[in-house]
Amino acid sequence: MMLLARINLTLAFILLSPVSILRLWWVLGSPLVMDHNSICRKTRRLGGKHAELCQSQPEIVQEVVKGARLGMRECQHQFRHHRWNCTNQSRSLGKILQQDIREAAFLYAITAAGVVHTVTQACSMGDLLQCGCTPATQEGPWEWGGCGDDVEFGYQISRQFTDSRRKRGKSDIKTLIDLHNNEAGRLAVQGFMRMECKCHGLSGSCTLRSCWRKMPLFRQTGDWLVQRFQSAVQVMGSNNGKSLIPLRQDAPPLEPHDLIYFAESPDFCLANRRLGSEGTRGRVCNGTTVAAAVGGSGGCESLCCGRGHQEHTLVYEENCVCRFHWCCVVQCQRCSVRRDVSRCL
Ligand SMILES: *[C@@H]1O[C@H](CO)[C@@H](O)[C@H](O)[C@H]1NC(C)=O
Ligand SMILES: *[C@@H]1O[C@H](CO)[C@@H](O)[C@H](O)[C@H]1NC(C)=O
Ligand SMILES: *[C@@H]1O[C@H](CO)[C@@H](O)[C@H](O)[C@H]1NC(C)=O
Repeated sequence: MMLLARINLTLAFILLSPVSILRLWWVLGSPLVMDHNSICRKTRRLGGKHAELCQSQPEIVQEVVKGARLGMRECQHQFRHHRWNCTNQSRSLGKILQQDIREAAFLYAITAAGVVHTVTQACSMGDLLQCGCTPATQEGPWEWGGCGDDVEFGYQISRQFTDSRRKRGKSDIKTLIDLHNNEAGRLAVQGFMRMECKCHGLSGSCTLRSCWRKMPLFRQTGDWLVQRFQSAVQVMGSNNGKSLIPLRQDAPPLEPHDLIYFAESPDFCLANRRLGSEGTRGRVCNGTTVAAAVGGSGGCESLCCGRGHQEHTLVYEENCVCRFHWCCVVQCQRCSVRRDVSRCL
């Protein structure tokens, strides 16, 4: 009986709340450990557009799953020195996503961006039948087979999967915020397409040139979104409740690429299951960073929230005195290394 009630509650949550695929996955289980088959099996019971796509275009769903993972890995890289480090332990990510805080904004954006990136790349690699390269723009009389990234296709797929599938136009604040941040993530890929050109013509004289558009490296997308995270804008509902405006009256109007949030974040110092905080106890910190350095540098003072830290000596083995032998092997010895690390109390 208890179990049945819980399942029903979960279903009610999914059906009532505007479903972003990301939130859906965290209710069903983590996208990091689930493959697209199990995601589709679970999604089928719920019906709707995602279930249809699972049936008709499983290879796209597979790329969407990969994209979400790419986003998560980038999040973990970008936040590795922060108190909140984007850990996917236990249920904490699901809890983060239910709040209207900056960390949730970043997660939505980086996931939506990861989906754009991965799907677009699959198109360029020829892995999907539904899409391919965009032709190069030619300057000169010759055809030249450059492969541009068809970011429009990736953008549309990301929209289908990450934005709500029902009650579009329904305007509760959380929905508006999530949709805005999803879009900011997609723009972080689509808005930074760069031109790549190749010269041809007699002995590389560049009398002929063809150019095509490539996506930014995903690391650059991550770097950009972290900057947006740092300057995220706190918003509130406008009087008619249909749109969002900055909370601070002297703030400039919202831009599509801003990350936005409603509630202040917890400090993530102590473990708190309800808030999705794992706390920083036991985290490795940097004892030599100057105390004044602000959050994100991994300094003990900030990471340990003033609780102090303890030095340990780690002893481990690593490759050393490596020699290259013609041809082609590298032989190393194993050396014992001692390293002092600090951990938060
Ligand atoms: C968390 O992510 C790591 C890789 O980043 C993965 O190996 C692990 O299975 C994930 N755990 C959960 C609970 O999703
Ligand atoms: C992230 O934080 C968790 C919980 O404090 C910790 O177990 C994990 O090792 C951290 N990950 C990294 C890469 O520091
Ligand atoms: C600690 O921080 C200092 C200065 O910011 C840096 O030079 C050093 O490499 C860091 N150490 C570790 C182990 O990250």
